[in-house]
Amino acid sequence: MGKTSKDKRDVYYRQAKEEGWRARSAFKLMHINEQFGILDNVQRAVDLCAAPGSWSQVLSRKLFDCCLTDDQKSEVKIIAVDLQAMAPIRGVIQLQGDITKESTANAIIAHFDKTSDKKAQLVVCDGAPDVTGVHEMDEYMQNQLIVSALSIATFVLETGGTFVAKIFKGNANCLLESQMLTFFKDFHIYKPPSSRPSSIEAFVVCIGFRLPNGYIPQIINPARDDIRLLARKTGSAVNRRLVPFIACGDLNGASDELSTKFEDEFTSEDYEMTYDDMIRDVDFPEEFKDELEDVLLDEIAVRSVENFQTHCLW
Ligand SMILES: C[S@@+](CC[C@H](N)C(=O)[O-])C[C@H]1O[C@@H](n2cnc3c(N)ncnc32)[C@H](O)[C@@H]1O
Repeated sequence: MGKTSKDKRDVYYRQAKEEGWRARSAFKLMHINEQFGILDNVQRAVDLCAAPGSWSQVLSRKLFDCCLTDDQKSEVKIIAVDLQAMAPIRGVIQLQGDITKESTANAIIAHFDKTSDKKAQLVVCDGAPDVTGVHEMDEYMQNQLIVSALSIATFVLETGGTFVAKIFKGNANCLLESQMLTFFKDFHIYKPPSSRPSSIEAFVVCIGFRLPNGYIPQIINPARDDIRLLARKTGSAVNRRLVPFIACGDLNGASDELSTKFEDEFTSEDYEMTYDDMIRDVDFPEEFKDELEDVLLDEIAVRSVENFQTHCLW
């Protein structure tokens, strides 16, 4: 059965047509909202990977259209970004660009004054790369989008803000969870009823944004940047500790070359030093210590075994 006829049987497809949503995806955001109340009292939001625009329509209807006065409307800010152009939506500022590019990230960030109390309360990302069918590669590309979206969120989100992003359920989700919990109080993975059961997509819903003490926001693209170097450039010890956990490897480099380089560079002693630094750092929040402690101790154990095996073999 072709895709079109399958879609037409779908209750959300039909309902989307009837209610004027540009895509059935609108129901995913509405279901996430029903479950977590992510749109409650929100006036400022960023919609990443927004085309054709059904999530932006939901934001427009819930944040903008419900305002009773022009003054209230002027307080609403919705920024929507995609590689593709989109037809206009009331109350939505549109940017066309690649969210993994620094220039696009900067254009989004420029809409939010970092010193004022008018930062975004919500960042959503429904981005999906062209799926290749090779699960590891698709999952990796999806993670790239999440890392880019999260980097943008660290600049624009206000404390307590919410971050929602599409993921492909897979092995890297534990890593993602530990990473997200360093930036957010609560982490959930949710599959809305409108997401097809046959699809491996789900959504991370991260609530209660808190920039770790001493962390300096930075635009990160793990496929392009040497993230350790980037973290070092900030001069922040906290960035050096947190950034390596955002993503591991890249596509060239799920490559042996890159993994070998990292293994050479980051030994169990390095992890032990990072661990000691973290434990001693009184400014480092206790809950992050607990999260990172598990990751670091695992790494120390793995590296020590590898080290032992290498030496025994020789
Ligand atoms: C599933 S669609 C989003 C649907 C949208 N939430 C809606 O409700 O209409 C995924 C979108 O991600 C966009 N996308 C993928 N990679 C991107 C990137 N690097 N930068 C910006 N947009 C990207 C695609 O162009 C596509 O429009």
